[in-house]
Amino acid sequence: MADTTSSADGWRHRHLLDVDTWSADELERSMVLAGSMAASLRERRPREELAGRRVVTFFGEASTRTRLSFELAARSLGADVSHLDAVSSSVVKGESLMDTVRTVGALGTDLLVMRHQRAGAPYLAARHFPGHVVNAGDGCHAHPTQALADLYTLRQRLPRGVQGARVAIVGDIRHSRVARSDVWSLTTAGAEVTLCGPAEWLTGVAEWLTGVAEWTAGVGAGRRVSVTTDLVRAITGADAVMALRVQRERLAGAGPSLAAYSERYRLTPDRLQLAHPDALVMHPGPVNQGMEIDRAVAWGPRSVILDQVANGVPVRMAIMALLVGPGS
Ligand code: NCD
Repeated sequence: MADTTSSADGWRHRHLLDVDTWSADELERSMVLAGSMAASLRERRPREELAGRRVVTFFGEASTRTRLSFELAARSLGADVSHLDAVSSSVVKGESLMDTVRTVGALGTDLLVMRHQRAGAPYLAARHFPGHVVNAGDGCHAHPTQALADLYTLRQRLPRGVQGARVAIVGDIRHSRVARSDVWSLTTAGAEVTLCGPAEWLTGVAEWLTGVAEWTAGVGAGRRVSVTTDLVRAITGADAVMALRVQRERLAGAGPSLAAYSERYRLTPDRLQLAHPDALVMHPGPVNQGMEIDRAVAWGPRSVILDQVANGVPVRMAIMALLVGPGS
């Protein structure tokens, strides 16, 4: 991976493509820095880590919270921020992704935030971009900043901490870049993750986990992840339950009917009773109320869904400061 060359103040990663290569210490450092960013935001204290730097957000897929929080984060660090929409860019005139990336680099961009429908696209971009690349979601592969916002939220809201906590992630795991990156951030931080959904939506997931455990040997050792179709088993006693959006756009007729899924796996008040009495309810958004989660649960007292959104800003500030900060 073209990930390890430059470093700001001892930070060994030049890009953020996924959190699979991060150590527990690196996660800890990013979380502590995010905490300091959150304090600056609360106190409306401007920061200057990215003063004089140019950030471009390049989104080839729809986004509300991710794009907005990257832009707010970059501005809060003093950066000059521009947005490039794939629909209005020369991509529609046939320009290749690499040409677009080189062009953005030639315009003096220090950091490129990129969301792309193709898994791996940010990795390719990182090979051609002179600055830093941050993956804001690539196909069904990875969404590292969401995984960091989720970890930050759990650290903030779990009364007994993340180490040893049981987190159930429920839904279309196969298509979820959030679930894949969450597996890395949460297990590296010591949580036990259970991935749950109907069998068709777990296809390939066990193999993926075996694969990652093998190629990361050291990093993978000791991770606690399991896969099950049994919702009761997944959520009984859980400290946090995360529902995933049913991604209609990625479901080409395969798998259970949406009505059957909703019937069997929707997070309802009754089902939530199985979890730990003070379990947290999470969802990366956007939420399809009544499909994967009931309204009463999504916006009930245990929900931290809006914390996940809000925490996206300080977490993304921390990432950008680590990548681009002094010395890089
Ligand atoms: C997710 C995404 O785009 O990967 N949303 C997000 O960024 N918070 C999840 C989804 O689209 O369902």
